[in-house]
Amino acid sequence: GSIDLRKDVGKIDELEKRLKFSEMVGYIGIGHTRWATHGAVTRWNAHPHIDCSGKIVVVHNGIIENYVDLKRDLERKGHKFRTQTDTEVIPHLIEEHLKEKETFLEAFEAAIRELKGAYALAIITSLEPERIYFARFFSPLVIGIGDKEYFVASDIPAFLEWTQRVIILHDGDYGYVSQDGVFLKNLFVGDFVERDIMTVEWTKEMAEKGGFEHFMLKEIHEQPESVRRTIIMAEKQMADMVSMLDDAEDIYIVAAGTSYYASLHGQYAFAKYGLKSRAIVSSEFLEEVGTFVDKDDVIIGVSQSGETADTLKALRHAKNRGAKIIAITNVIGSAITRIADKSIIMGAGPEIGVAATKTFTAQVATLNYMILKWAKAHGYDVGNLVEKLRNAPEDMSLVLKDNEDKAKKLAEEMYVKTNAYYLGRGLGLPTALEGALKMKEIAYIHAEGYPAGESKHGPIALVEPGFPIFAVVLKDETYHRMQIAIEEMKSRGGYIVSVTEMDDTHTQNMSDFSFFVPGGYSNILAPLVYVIPLQLVAYYTAVKRGYD
Ligand code: M6R
Repeated sequence: GSIDLRKDVGKIDELEKRLKFSEMVGYIGIGHTRWATHGAVTRWNAHPHIDCSGKIVVVHNGIIENYVDLKRDLERKGHKFRTQTDTEVIPHLIEEHLKEKETFLEAFEAAIRELKGAYALAIITSLEPERIYFARFFSPLVIGIGDKEYFVASDIPAFLEWTQRVIILHDGDYGYVSQDGVFLKNLFVGDFVERDIMTVEWTKEMAEKGGFEHFMLKEIHEQPESVRRTIIMAEKQMADMVSMLDDAEDIYIVAAGTSYYASLHGQYAFAKYGLKSRAIVSSEFLEEVGTFVDKDDVIIGVSQSGETADTLKALRHAKNRGAKIIAITNVIGSAITRIADKSIIMGAGPEIGVAATKTFTAQVATLNYMILKWAKAHGYDVGNLVEKLRNAPEDMSLVLKDNEDKAKKLAEEMYVKTNAYYLGRGLGLPTALEGALKMKEIAYIHAEGYPAGESKHGPIALVEPGFPIFAVVLKDETYHRMQIAIEEMKSRGGYIVSVTEMDDTHTQNMSDFSFFVPGGYSNILAPLVYVIPLQLVAYYTAVKRGYD
């Protein structure tokens, strides 16, 4: 009947030493690690948040867009706020509704009906100490069904140690878990709803570090296996793909971040075989093509999580206009699969490291498999590429082995840098863009990727002696133009780091530092091997800079 609330600012293991979460006594509990989005990084602003009485405790992922209005109204009614967060309105709102509602559930429902924005909520109250309330709108939330125990989490790996049985909640779902099971209603249905319980094939070991220092490094090393599984799964799931693509007037590939770079690769790979498509960043989709999309189009949505709000928004828009939707995702049952007419699930296993690595190569492998299938069906000569795709995992293992120490060595130089450029052309461009994203996201070094031919149109102005230039060099029709780009940068004193085919001594001689990949990848398979050294450099540079 009482709530023990512990929270603070800092890394989890430091807080654990100070606050001893693991010694807390009880049989229900909630917790949340959250980046500051509203207000400074302070103990008060950390989750969970409580109402005036201290009886309602809330953790929240998402953003409450109308919190300013709600807060003003609640303050007028006498509620005292302790934080600058958007989340704090939620416990106060429930507290307010409890004044006129008979049950906590009714007050909870009335409160969430007032919220605008996105939320995944877990709530406990000392008024009903046997329940954890939850609600989902736009932000992902899943329920794990254990042996007489239940878990509410924003992602499946959080409870893989205890169960593989999962309910993926839909938007508008809310309710509670207790010893007796899951009580589930939906705001829009206005009644009880039933959701399937799925069993995921992910294992507990997949959600552990398995001897690696960080999940990111583990996931970089998992890539051969993840691509192998993904190709096997792609083979089983693409039966009707050729006709779907054939029937399309326009094909758009829609995604965000790393998934967008994989999609851009898809566009280039499709173009190689004369299939026209266009990759679009999902947050720009509505403005760029939203008014043109119609029932004759096919939209391929690429999303590791299957839950990225901008991507879902773009796909819903296209679906409402009658377009057919194909989803490529890593998470079975995720929101994207409910929008899609056809879903292709990848076999990358859970992505825990946040920085996408194995899911990028899995997405590339899936899109490659798709286009090779289409090209073969249309009589294109794809050579031995299908076989090579199947064998790529072996070469990926070699690339990992050959380049890891080199990446550590380069990190010794990179960690003091403040900027870097990543250049590529054609099929090398998406890899360059992804390399830059990894460097800025993980090592916090400003990094910009762009098509190599653009240097002279502005970016070269920044290059001075020692400025790192990463060049992704394929031995295809872009090869000589990449050499010219490298020369340009060298003439300004740029420090050239190239990723080249093993026997490309010409580029290696021009470079200050080189990573090698096996021959035979200067085609649509390129990102599978070329991206690995760039992931490793970003990782080791971050470690060298002392970042977690
Ligand atoms: O789950 P999604 O693939 O839809 O996520 C999209 C991006 O947020 C994601 O790819 C992000 O850019 C990476 N985690 C960066 O490493």
